[in-house]
Amino acid sequence: MATEFTLPHWYDLHTHFRQDETLQATVKDHIHMNCAGALAMPNTAPPVGKLFEADKPENYKSIEQYHAEILAASDGRFKEVIVPLYLTKDTSPDMIEKGARAGILKACKYYPPHGTTGAESGAPLDTYMENGVFQAMADTGVTLCVHGEEHGLDPERYFDRGENAEMIFYQERMPRLVDNFPGLRIVGEHLTTKVAVDFIQDTPSHVKGNITPQHLIYTIGHLLKGLKYHLYCLPLVKYSEDRAALRKAATSPNNTKFFAGTDSAPHVQKMTACGCAAGCYTGRIAPQLYAQAFEMAGVDLSDQAGQAIFKNFLCTIGQEFYDLPEPEETFTLEKKPENVQPLKVGDQTIIPLPLGMDFDMTWRIKP
Ligand code: NCD
Ligand code: ZN
Repeated sequence: MATEFTLPHWYDLHTHFRQDETLQATVKDHIHMNCAGALAMPNTAPPVGKLFEADKPENYKSIEQYHAEILAASDGRFKEVIVPLYLTKDTSPDMIEKGARAGILKACKYYPPHGTTGAESGAPLDTYMENGVFQAMADTGVTLCVHGEEHGLDPERYFDRGENAEMIFYQERMPRLVDNFPGLRIVGEHLTTKVAVDFIQDTPSHVKGNITPQHLIYTIGHLLKGLKYHLYCLPLVKYSEDRAALRKAATSPNNTKFFAGTDSAPHVQKMTACGCAAGCYTGRIAPQLYAQAFEMAGVDLSDQAGQAIFKNFLCTIGQEFYDLPEPEETFTLEKKPENVQPLKVGDQTIIPLPLGMDFDMTWRIKP
């Protein structure tokens, strides 16, 4: 019999569902991979920059609306969904207090201005350090989800041997953030470097980090060899030393800090006229990819101790941190090849990451 083991349903605590038909299709894929819910990022078009539909300005989507759209698309299958507020020049401490009091605001997302897909509405981190927004979040227990990359860098500093945008952010910005707002709950999203992992490891327990499957599996060489643009996501995959640090952090038996957040990001067109859209799609297949990554990191998933480490990362740490209901339903992973298919959205197609990579998946969800 193939190796198999059973897990509770889990929460994907960093994902992108977008809007319209893509929302419907991607939520279905998350249900298919047994998500009990998700933290759905607010870089939609338009961005989720306000609390309630009746709030101003009109050109933002509201948490109220997006949350309801996602729950409706899940057809009652999602237990809970968190929609963070997109931090913009219009975000005020009053909004944070009002949202927290109403129970609608659980998290806010910091995007480095123009630093990734849909990040053009972001304002520099200092804005919120100075205008009272982070203080209001600390006072009300609202979590700050941080896309931790320094923005506006020259190419030589953006990605080089000695430094890159994430390292600079974790060396220069994060220490000030954590020191200046000691009560602020923070999640370092989609960590990619040893510097970021080490930083999160050494912070108090209300500061955590999440890790994607692609950053556990690949390095920059996988992206560059053949220019595999399906692996182009931000922050970029890094060096094997960084990947080793991520693997060690995620698979440690004592892990209390690092949890699953796929950053699954649907793009119907990756290649553009003279560039590439950032984001990897891993809907439907993320637990399978994480399982494969854990094996690559040396975890024996045929063994109960290995399975417990995996469950801790996929199902427990994030769920407890966000105080989400513990799912009762279960699913089984079995060691058999997964049949990955492109996702059809209307007459367009989203290619899941492994198809863009000539990669054989070794785990599947037991039918
Ligand atoms: C994400 C997307 O496409 O929305 N892209 C990505 O490369 N990860 C945005 C993000 O999380 O940075
Ligand atoms: Zn993301």
